[in-house]
Amino acid sequence: MKITSAEFVISNSEVAKCPDSRLPEYAFIGRSNVGKSSLINMLTERKNLAKTSGRPGKTQLINHFLINKSWHLVDLPGYGYAQVSKSAKKTFQKFITAYFEKREQMICAFVLIDSRHKPQPIDLEFMEWLGEHQVPFCIIYTKADKLKPKALERNINDYQAEMLQTWTEMPQYFITSSSSGMGRDEVLDYIDRINSQ
Ligand code: GTP
Ligand code: MG
Repeated sequence: MKITSAEFVISNSEVAKCPDSRLPEYAFIGRSNVGKSSLINMLTERKNLAKTSGRPGKTQLINHFLINKSWHLVDLPGYGYAQVSKSAKKTFQKFITAYFEKREQMICAFVLIDSRHKPQPIDLEFMEWLGEHQVPFCIIYTKADKLKPKALERNINDYQAEMLQTWTEMPQYFITSSSSGMGRDEVLDYIDRINSQ
């Protein structure tokens, strides 16, 4: 998919105030600092479309971007910042769960996982929560440039093996690097294919 236009639409903390449109929507979600905003800039080839930062917790609101005048890309705040996983309660920020529960035009969530790290309970629990709420999602392993190819392959295999213990149907996954552009075509083609169905 060629990106011909990418425009910021609106930021807010209330699902009810998200754009009143039937355009298909794709959301990027994951732990703080995993690289959601950077990935959005990489995909759209716009340096500062989404605000990024070395400090976790940069994105605080639901941010809508209109792509090619035909679909919305959504940058969400990270979960799990400055708190350990509250396994039993599965408490993610309220408006993140409200977004996924209520936003009917949300076609697919991309759950970003830092490819350098071992499976973290908060990410596994978040994906379980998505599964329980029948939210379609894919995994994106980020920051691939930070690992040597062998280590990257090993980490992803380990992650997939861990997922196989809970999931009978495995989500599709992508491997990306916002600095090298790795995975860009694959993610955009995936979105394009769904949009043209
Ligand atoms: P919050 O909005 O705080 O939840 O973070 P975020 O998930 O949007 O992360 P953001 O895109 O702001 O990136 C966090 C940090 O990781 C920044 O310093 C980025 O430059 C860096 N980063 C993100 N993606 C990559 C990547 O693919 N490779 C490398 N080397 N660094 C990355
Ligand atoms: Mg962000």
